[in-house]
This record gives sequence, C-alpha cells and structure tokens, in this order.
Amino acid sequence: MREGQPKTVYLQDYTAPSYRVDALSLVFELGETSTRVTNVANYRREAGVAANTPLELYGEALELLEIRLNGLPLQAGDYQVTDTGMSVYNVSALCTLEIVTRIYPQKNTSLEGLYQSSGNFCTQCEAQGFRKITYYPDRPDVMTVFTTQILADKQKYPVLLSNGNLTGSGELADGRHWARWEDPFHKPAYLFALVAGDLQHVEDHYTTSSGRDVTLRIYTEAHNIDKCDHAMQSLKRAMHWDEQRFGLEYDLDIYMIVAVDDFNMGAMENKGLNVFNSKLVFASPATATDMDYVSIEAVIGHEYFHNWTGNRVTCRDWFQLSLKEGLTVFRDQEFTSDLHSRPVKRIEDVRMLRTNQFAEDASPMAHPIRPASYMEINNFYTVTVYEKGAEVVRMYQTLLGRDGFRKGMDLYFQRHDGQAVATENFLAAMADANGVDLSQFQRWYDQAGTPQVAVTMDYDAAAQTCTLHLRQSCPATPEAAEKLPFLIPVAVGLLGSNGQDLIGTQVLRLTDAEQSFTFEQVAECPVPSLLRGFSAPVRLSYPYTTAELVFLMKHDSDAFNRWDAGQRLAMQTILSLLDAQQQQAAFGLEHEFISAYQAILTDNTLDHALRAEAMTLPSEADIAEVARPSDPEAIHTVREFIHATLAKALRLDLEALYADLHAQGQGDYSPDAVSIGRRSLKNVCLAYLGRIQDDGIYETCLQQYRNAGNMTDAMAALAVLSKIDCPQREEALQHFHDRWQHDPLVMDKWFGLQATSSLPGTLQQVQTLMQHALFDIRNPNKVRALVGSFAMRNPLHFHAQDGSGYTFLTERVLELDAMNPQIASRMVRPLMNWRQYEPTRSAAMKAQLEQIKAHSGLSGDVYEIVSKSLV
Ligand code: TRP
Ligand code: ZN
Repeated sequence: MREGQPKTVYLQDYTAPSYRVDALSLVFELGETSTRVTNVANYRREAGVAANTPLELYGEALELLEIRLNGLPLQAGDYQVTDTGMSVYNVSALCTLEIVTRIYPQKNTSLEGLYQSSGNFCTQCEAQGFRKITYYPDRPDVMTVFTTQILADKQKYPVLLSNGNLTGSGELADGRHWARWEDPFHKPAYLFALVAGDLQHVEDHYTTSSGRDVTLRIYTEAHNIDKCDHAMQSLKRAMHWDEQRFGLEYDLDIYMIVAVDDFNMGAMENKGLNVFNSKLVFASPATATDMDYVSIEAVIGHEYFHNWTGNRVTCRDWFQLSLKEGLTVFRDQEFTSDLHSRPVKRIEDVRMLRTNQFAEDASPMAHPIRPASYMEINNFYTVTVYEKGAEVVRMYQTLLGRDGFRKGMDLYFQRHDGQAVATENFLAAMADANGVDLSQFQRWYDQAGTPQVAVTMDYDAAAQTCTLHLRQSCPATPEAAEKLPFLIPVAVGLLGSNGQDLIGTQVLRLTDAEQSFTFEQVAECPVPSLLRGFSAPVRLSYPYTTAELVFLMKHDSDAFNRWDAGQRLAMQTILSLLDAQQQQAAFGLEHEFISAYQAILTDNTLDHALRAEAMTLPSEADIAEVARPSDPEAIHTVREFIHATLAKALRLDLEALYADLHAQGQGDYSPDAVSIGRRSLKNVCLAYLGRIQDDGIYETCLQQYRNAGNMTDAMAALAVLSKIDCPQREEALQHFHDRWQHDPLVMDKWFGLQATSSLPGTLQQVQTLMQHALFDIRNPNKVRALVGSFAMRNPLHFHAQDGSGYTFLTERVLELDAMNPQIASRMVRPLMNWRQYEPTRSAAMKAQLEQIKAHSGLSGDVYEIVSKSLV
C-alpha cells in the first residue's frame, strides 16, 4: 500500500504564476559521488499579485546547502521546505534568490533529472525532472534565459554541453575544466539539458533558407561514431523540409544531438541540445533494419520539428501536452510521407493507431487528447495524446485543405511565438486564419473514446440518386458516460461497376448524431468507398458483402481503402472462424478469400510495399480488440490456420515471388522506399512459407540469414526460424549471439525475438534470458526488448491460461518500480484491459492488479494505472 495517496491535478485549477523569472544562472560542479548545483534566479512579481504572496518553488530529493535572498542568508521563518518544494515568504517585487543544493546523479536510477549513463552525465527534464536538479518554478509557463556553467574533471569529462551557445571555457588548477553556455531563447525548465562526458562527435553544416550557417553535431562514445551518418543526413533533410513545407527556419548557430544508452523514451527536444536514445541514432546496414532507418529519420525529424512546435511556442501547462506532441507527430508523419511512400506511411500509422490507441480508448485509462486531470503526468505520454492528437491535427488539414492549414499555422506562430499556450489557441488560429467556425471541433479535445460511425446506403434508380446515411455514437469512457456529437470529416467516393470513381473524393462534414448526404446523377448503384485515407480516428461500419470487399481491394482509387478493404475481409473471416471454432464446427477458408490473396500476391502492377501491407493479416492484438470476450489462444490458432492455409494454397506463387525478389535484391544496401518495399514483400513471402512444415524451407531461411548483406534480411529470416522448433533455429540464434554480443542494440533484437516466439517454453526462456550476462534490468531498452516484448507482443504466452505470464509480469513491475517508476508504469499496462478477456484470464489479471496495488512503497506512477484499472 502506498504511504500517502498521490494527488490528482485538475485542468480547471490552473492559475497563472505569481512570479516570473527574468534570468537564471546555473552552476554545476559535477563530482564522482555528488554534484553541487548553484541556482541564481531573478524573480519578478506579476502585476496585480498581492505583495505577501509567497514564491513557490518545486524541488524533490534535494539536499539544501545554502539559501540567500538578495545576498542575505534566509532565516528559518523566511521559508518552508516540504517533500515536493519550498515556499519563500516576504519576497520583494524584484528579488534575487540564490540556492545551493547537492544531488546524487550516480545513484539516480529513475533516469529523470541529472543521471549517469555509461559513465557520462546527462539530464532528462521533461516533464518534471528539473525539480530533481534544483528548486525552481518547474512549470512550462515560466520561461527565462538560461546561463549554465559546468565544472568537471577534464580527463573523465572532456566534453561539457548545455543549451544555446558556448560563451566561455577554461581550466582550473585542480584538473577540472569548465564551460559556460548561454541560451538566448526564453524557455521553460523542461527544455533544459546538460551533458558531460568522454564523447566524440561528427560535424556537418546546414545553410538555412535565409543563408545562415548552422553547425550540426552528433555526440557519441567513440565506438559508435561511424554509425551517425544516417542520423546526420536525416537532420539535414528535416531542416530543409520544415523550410519548404512550413516556412520554418532554425534559430541558433548550433544544433547538437547526444546519443545515450539509458533513456526512458525515444528522444528529447531540449533547445539546441537533443538527447536521444542511442537506438534512434545509430545505423549501419549490418546492424539496423529498414524499420530502424525509417524510425531514426522520423524521430530526428520529430525532435527537430519541436524547435517550433513545442519550444518557440510551448505549452501553458501539462494538460496541453498534445498541443506540441500531436502537432509534432503530425509534422513528422508528413515529413516521412513526403520523403517516402504516402500510402504506406498512412497504412502503418493507422495500423498502429487502431492496435494501440483504440485499445487505450477502450481501457480504464481512456482519456481525451487534452486530459482534464492526472495523478502522474508521465503516465500521459500516451498513444492518445501523441497519435490520436496527430489525427486531430490532420483533420484540420482535411477540413481546411493544405493551404488553409498552412494559413492557420502561420497565424499560430505570428500570434504565439515566445508564448506558452493552450490547445484552444491552436484551434482559434486555424479558425480565424480561415474565417470559419470550428467551435464543435473542440469536442475532440475534451471527449475520450473512439467514435463509431455506422453507414448505410440507398440507391434510387429512377431518380439516379445515391444517399449515404451516417449515424455517429461514442462509447462511455471514465470522464463521461454521454458524448456530444463530434465534427467528423468523412472522405467518401462511389465506385461504378467498372471500378471508376463516380464522384471523385468528397469530404462530408458529419456534425449531427444522424445525417444523410445525397449525390445526384449517379447512373448506377455504386459500391461506396468510405473514410478514404482514414479521414477521422473513428470505427466505421458498413454492411459490405465479401464480393464488395474483393471489388474494393481491386479497384478503389484510394490506396489506403484498398488495403482497408482487405483488412475488413480478413477480420470478417477471422471472426467467423472463431465462431466455428467455438462451436467445434468444420474449419476452412472460402475459395473467394484465397483467390483474393492470390490476386494481390501475383499482381505485378502493384507496388511491392503495398502488396506486403495487403498480405499482412490483422495482428492478434487487433483481433482481440474486436473478438470479445477475448481468448488469445483461440485467436492465435485461427490466425495461424489462415497463414498456413494460404501458404499451402499459394506455395508456388510465394516461392516464385520470393526467388524473384531475392534475386533482385543482391546489390548494395539502400534504405530507399523502393528497396524497402522489395525487402518487405520478399520477407512477407518467407514468413508465409515458414508456416509450411518443410525442412527445405527452413534451409532457405538459414541461407537467407547466413548470406544476408543487411540486418533487415537477417532479422526477417531469424524471426521466421524463431517460431519453429528446428535445428536451423538453434544454429541461427547461436550464431547471431556470438556475432553480435559486443553490440547492445543488436542484442536487444536477439532478446526481443526469443520473447515473442510462439514455441512452448517461451516464458522459461525469457526467465533464463533475464539471467544472461548482457541483460540489465536498469536499462530500459533491455527491459522493453525482453519484458515488454513478452507482455505486449506475445499474447499467446503472456495470456497463458495458467496465469504464469501475469505472475511473471507482476514480479518484474515491482522489481522495476523500486528503481524506475516510469518504466514500471509502462510495463504494467498490459494488465489494464483485464475486463475484455474470458473469465479465467480476466480474474487472474485482476488478481495481479490487486496484488500490485497492495504493494508497500508503490510509486504514484504505477499506483495511478492499477487503481484506475480496478475502478
Ligand atoms: N518530448 C519527448 C518527445 O516526444 C518525449 C520524452 C522524451 C519524454 N523523454 C521523456 C517524456 C521522458 C516524458 C519523460 O519527443
Ligand atoms: Zn515529441
């Protein structure tokens, strides 16, 4: 049981700060056991604030050494220190407060605040880590200019970095040296960063559109310095793209990125000094997959784009997180779409949204993209705030058009550069720039849950009119049982019998609970193509027949909907097989289904990447979302049955295509969209073939693994083998281990593969791997690779009916919670949706949640998730 209940913070309780900071000067004396932080801040009381209002500072786990107000030591009654901060009384309207504290970065396992990773110092201040460094008004609406001086042993820490420009450096007599950095831009404390260590860097330059030269540097330990080129090229592409698409230029003379091995999330946009999880920086053909290459480019872009959407215009408070994250994810999605394949990117993003965000929306932690309350803000860095937030931004663009959206962005920056604002300000800029009323659109920020849109169609042959009837609803979520109708842009087309578009693509504005739209001069009864491009984050239903879906798969001019028709067909088939299985009825696939897949596989006019997407069945998690109450074992069996049946029926086509694509891919590795697409389709073929019990195929896998000229092909072959009980599996896994044991990022792949195997004994294997010399529970990447993969990407074994997967997870969560609550709180989430499972599993999951909740000393992070799950 927890000691005190964590407090809930409410959006409606927001009040503006009473004191602003005119300037802040920090001095860090980095030591081997502790670090001394001196903080000199000039505070200014806001006009209209009562003179006796105390100055409120946040601070956690700090040793207070000295405190002086306007140069004079404070007396006991002049201030009061609590567990979470300090109040300073009787301050003048303008004052200088000097505070000296001691902290222990070497003991900091939470990876928040100042900590060490691989012997180097680094910081993570978002969201509220700065208060673990010094006493300060650590809230995003308090912005100031920072001067940071760093003192450290010169030999151990030759590189000393912080935000902004280097304005001084020197040596001290005792073997230490120092550097001073000044950041001319006002920023909140969460964007502060400090790095000190034995680092090398690669350097490049970028000339901005107005002709300014910017120095670009990526810092890393020496042994990874040769793996930074892709990240550097990605950064330059991102800088160029933001100038072209949004007219946004970089604003400092230097942009630095530091790669660290121990990091709670992907990366962090600190002003002028990004800190990155090393897995999102390092790439070489031998060590990184196509997916790694693409996500490195996307995240480098994401953090760079934050410089305007997040840093120059920041958040008023943490409820507004989606203001910067939803918008910046939208921007990074557009960046990837413009540089690679737009439809493929859209399919991947929607797949991810449906799998993860729809599940979150259906869970006890469902929240609007702008939550109204939270206990622990770190728990709200969610797929809802990020990915659904990006969908909400995308809907503005769908409603206003690209030009209208750009006008809104321009006005947003014109009005709010240098400010800390709320999501309403973004909506107002979009509305005002376009002279439209978007007030109903606000509901997307305030209501949680995935809206459902049910569509039916009437065709009147005599009048030649076609009418679509749309009905929207939204399930109850914790914050509200009843929902008001959303403004939903529904992009639609109508297909004639020859497959041609009859009305092009039209964006319907669904504003009411029920609404009908009639199209004139429709000469024949069409097949509707609905929600083209996934124009809104909703579940849309329409009573499609199998024949209509097959027709759309072939003819829809919207590539996304062609893919989605296939997904609908697959899901219908899976659900009917699950029914048959439950009734112990005969099991089989219709000829129509198999030939639809054969048509995709053999259609050489179709883009490789899109064919690969179309051949990919909905995941077990996707199925579990729809097939309630879920039985993960039954789902696994049915999905594997379809795979195996398709593989056997289409074996000749699969083998021919595999051989053809394999032969085409013999040149040098390049992560361009065409080559990536070719490898995806080839490896999808191999994965299907792996479902056939045949030693010849296992040998093909082993051959591909051994001869692969890149990590994509090696991993794809190994992934197939990892799910098969055969000698080739052991040989390849052992070989991989021996070849890559010196490279922690590559070993994460090895851990992950074994954790996601469907073979019996996988949990025991995961437990054995926890003891492996290269596993380290303090490293979040390792935890995600082994524990996270097992609990989130191996439903078959995680949901073993005997509850062993659940017990394992509980033990890991409690072990992690004592050192890194943020990671523990991520790992506990697979238990959250316990209500959706069949009774035996549901009860076992619930029991684990109760056990965790009762654990003494539990963090507020984990407490919030488990307590809300049990309501
Ligand atoms: N702002 C970061 C991003 O999305 C997210 C982030 C990085 C973060 N590290 C964190 C959030 C630690 C909370 C805690 O780019
Ligand atoms: Zn972000």
